[in-house]
Amino acid sequence: MSCGPVPRHIAVIMDGNGRWAAARRMPRSEGHRAGYENIRRVIEQFSRTGVRYVTLFAFSTENWDRPSEEVSGLLGLLQEVIRLETEALHKNGVRIRHIGRLDRLSRELQDQIHESVEKTRYNKGLTLCVAFDYGGRTDIVQAARRMALDGVPADQIDEKLFSCYLFTADIPDPDLIIRTGGEFRISNFLLWQSAYAEFHSSPVNWPDFGEKEVNAALEEYASRDRRFGRVHEA
Ligand code: FPP
Repeated sequence: MSCGPVPRHIAVIMDGNGRWAAARRMPRSEGHRAGYENIRRVIEQFSRTGVRYVTLFAFSTENWDRPSEEVSGLLGLLQEVIRLETEALHKNGVRIRHIGRLDRLSRELQDQIHESVEKTRYNKGLTLCVAFDYGGRTDIVQAARRMALDGVPADQIDEKLFSCYLFTADIPDPDLIIRTGGEFRISNFLLWQSAYAEFHSSPVNWPDFGEKEVNAALEEYASRDRRFGRVHEA
């Protein structure tokens, strides 16, 4: 295991569920289910390593364009995750956050999300941020709109204030973004927040992304020289 700096916040694009299922001649929904089952393992490992914030890209603003049965499967899976996992997460001191739009989700799902966020609000352990109906551009546009509605004068708008209006207000920017499934795209995830994030792409599909792959990501991160646009003094 790596002994260098540990990222405070890791954000994950959990890609490759469909390919995992296709390789096994299974329906895509089984890939998403296997993806769900992998979440706990990976979060536990992150937590053991000292990571404090984990953000999971579970459903993007673009995912509504997938076939309707896949969309309803993912919505159902989110309900199941909340129903089955909230209590255990709460017992482990995990604070649950949601980032993304709520208005396109059913009233029932919105209530479930509110309940699990409220129940775990004061927990002091890992913060688990679930990005559901999330898009980076939507995040930026909703922040601009809310600032306008609040009547914020133009000369008071700066990066710090803007960040407070994003869905991720109070959550530090990600240090490391992991994308599984072999792609190198950011796909409208945390556009503002990823300004100085390190990026790790794994060829492994999300349901198979296990301990070895997590260690590889953490080792790669530890070996990076993060300069944030500055130069190091000799
Ligand atoms: C991308 O794989 C994955 C998703 C769009 C959904 C991610 C969902 C999970 C990991 C399950 C947990 C779900 C919730 C609701 C917490 P893909 O389908 O694009 O894979 P492909 O590129 O191989 O087709």
